[in-house]
Amino acid sequence: MSGRFDGKVALVTGAGRGQGRGHAVRLAAEGADVALVDLGRAGTVEHPPYRTATIEDLRATQTDIRALGRRAELFEVDVRDHGALVSAANETAERLGGIDYVIANAGITDGFHNTWELPPAHWRTMIDINLTGVFHTCHATVPRLIERGAGSALVLVSSVVGIKPVPRLAHYVAAKMALRGLGTALAAELGPYGIRCNTVHPGGTDTEMTAAMAELNQVPRENLLAGFRAGQLLPGDLSAEDSTAAVLWLLSTEARMITGMELAVDAGESKK
Ligand SMILES: NC(=O)c1ccc[n+]([C@@H]2O[C@H](COP(=O)([O-])OP(=O)(O)OC[C@H]3O[C@@H](n4cnc5c(N)ncnc54)[C@H](O)[C@@H]3O)[C@@H](O)[C@H]2O)c1
Repeated sequence: MSGRFDGKVALVTGAGRGQGRGHAVRLAAEGADVALVDLGRAGTVEHPPYRTATIEDLRATQTDIRALGRRAELFEVDVRDHGALVSAANETAERLGGIDYVIANAGITDGFHNTWELPPAHWRTMIDINLTGVFHTCHATVPRLIERGAGSALVLVSSVVGIKPVPRLAHYVAAKMALRGLGTALAAELGPYGIRCNTVHPGGTDTEMTAAMAELNQVPRENLLAGFRAGQLLPGDLSAEDSTAAVLWLLSTEARMITGMELAVDAGESKK
């Protein structure tokens, strides 16, 4: 590995499993120390009932990072809890020396509902986690990035449906589209500091989120994956490594003049 992130510190939300774990471990493989934020025992998601990452999942990410010779600090935090995120950001800065990069990746999905049949509690939970949780993450960490100064960067993880909406998932679509607005506003505000902010928009990727969608919609997981493939320009399945490659490139100095952009990692779905 090239050591693109030697001596840097990253904070990743949703780092217990899936794409967030992939981002965190690859950052460490390329030289970074990482603060791992996920729900663990800090709370539960009830609407819809949702299996989130456990403390064991978080510890597995930590073990992978330590095996690479890098430091990893664990934070069991619900991104709906602003105060807990502020504490996690402050403790990260104390223990690891600062924060250079933030990946706001934590999120949930839901079953399909017509908008007028969507339980309002599901709407609120979705917006609280997938939109307000990202705002909380940025609000808690940006002062630390400003302390580090030029070269720091954020990536907000949206979705292909944040570019090309799908029906019957209005709350997820609304949150993911709103991240483009949040990301653009932050890019404008942080530009004068030399700090960048971009959004990444993965297409359907086989993680625990796909398993949750299959369960909530009572369809076989393979049918969902076939549906993802049918919506793409390219054949084959997206993998978590595809979004990790894009996220890390956006954080790296190779993308030093790229900010306020929306990068789809979707095998062409948003263009079909
Ligand atoms: N898998 C896909 O098809 C897909 C497609 C587009 C975008 N995304 C987005 O990618 C991101 C990562 O998803 P993934 O595919 O790795 O799924 P995942 O379910 O494996 O990972 C999501 C992580 O977020 C954590 N999380 C959920 N609610 C939380 C909360 N309130 N507080 C703290 N952590 C919380 C979960 O515990 C989990 O570890 C999400 O934002 C998701 O919306 C996924």
